[in-house]
Amino acid sequence: MDHATQVRIIQELLEFEEQRTTDMDGQESEHYNPVAAYTDPDRLTAELDRIWYRRPLAVGHVAEFPEAGSFKTLRVGKVPILVVRGKDDRIRAFVNVCRHRGTILVEGECGRANAFACPYHAWTFGQDGGLRHVPDDFGFPDVAADKGRFGLRELWSQVHAGFVYVQADGNTPEQQLVDWLDEVGRDLQDLALDDYAALEPSTVRHPVNWKLPFDIFLENYHTKFTHRSTIYPVFLSNVGKFDAFGPHIRCVLPRREITELRHIDESKWDLVEQSTLLYVVWPNTMIAVLPEHAAVWHVYPDGVEHSTMNFYALIARRLYESEAEKEKWQKSLKVVKKVKREDAERFLSIQQGLNSGAHPALTFGRYEKAIAWFHQSIETALADPAAPATAEPAAEASAH
Ligand code: FES
Ligand SMILES: [Fe+2]
Repeated sequence: MDHATQVRIIQELLEFEEQRTTDMDGQESEHYNPVAAYTDPDRLTAELDRIWYRRPLAVGHVAEFPEAGSFKTLRVGKVPILVVRGKDDRIRAFVNVCRHRGTILVEGECGRANAFACPYHAWTFGQDGGLRHVPDDFGFPDVAADKGRFGLRELWSQVHAGFVYVQADGNTPEQQLVDWLDEVGRDLQDLALDDYAALEPSTVRHPVNWKLPFDIFLENYHTKFTHRSTIYPVFLSNVGKFDAFGPHIRCVLPRREITELRHIDESKWDLVEQSTLLYVVWPNTMIAVLPEHAAVWHVYPDGVEHSTMNFYALIARRLYESEAEKEKWQKSLKVVKKVKREDAERFLSIQQGLNSGAHPALTFGRYEKAIAWFHQSIETALADPAAPATAEPAAEASAH
């Protein structure tokens, strides 16, 4: 983020703090979000068809793929995906389905492999997705004659600012990735997270609709109450700045000491030092950026009332490789994990509340406008007349 933008945002935050207000929605009243958005299976089907299969999704960080053969698996709706770094250093994505008779090829969440042997009949695929070996291939004359035709199905993928993007329908995105990511992409580039180390990966399936973790992430109205002993002492309560770039979101949550900047020359102001930057790389990724740290969540729907959350922390290599700094970053990681648990308690509770049928809609306040924007972007994509009602996910494509 250029310095002029940082100064503008800090000035706005200082003004909010002085006037005991925050960034408010231009409309006069609250926003009401139907509970069905979190509970209706048809709604999830539409979201998968119109959003999940047909948009670039951030699915990992380059540090998770340190060498040739480093891999990670995930699932977008019906499409199981294998992401792997090849010998040529390129990170590629494939549909994680064996070409022989359709077994899921790689079951583990992540690891390293020279090649991928199917558990059923041991057809073996290389790090580049090519078919390498077929036991007793005399039964498959076409395959034996031309293995090149029987590789894994490759999906579009690209690395940008350290994050790996994949599109599950296999098509090239309609827009260039840099254009799609807009200013959020430029911010991530400026933050230089690509050289960070990735730590503490975890993948957890939660009984919540995929959108609830985003609702929790996108406001700091709850900090004073939900995070009373963890981050409330450090951050200003319910003061923040929200910006949207297409469907992507940036929220800036200031630390209490930002008020000291009033006595410091603007040329020395540094927004990252004085705040947490929250990014939503729409639709599935949340990135919280702190000085020399970041926390990343990739969220995937897993049925209307379940989602899979893949988490990892990023630490600047300077800190990670320094013995002297180890205690410091481990301490801050501990806080991140505690805050994560505090938030998880809330979204688990909310899904139960929604399932009870108690209320027809949720109420988002005027300073919870980032959440309203997140849902509005989904509505816009669902209503897109240019989108076919049902997209065909790559796993269902048959041609070889
Ligand atoms: S299904 Fe994979 S080798 Fe047979
Ligand atoms: Fe929170």
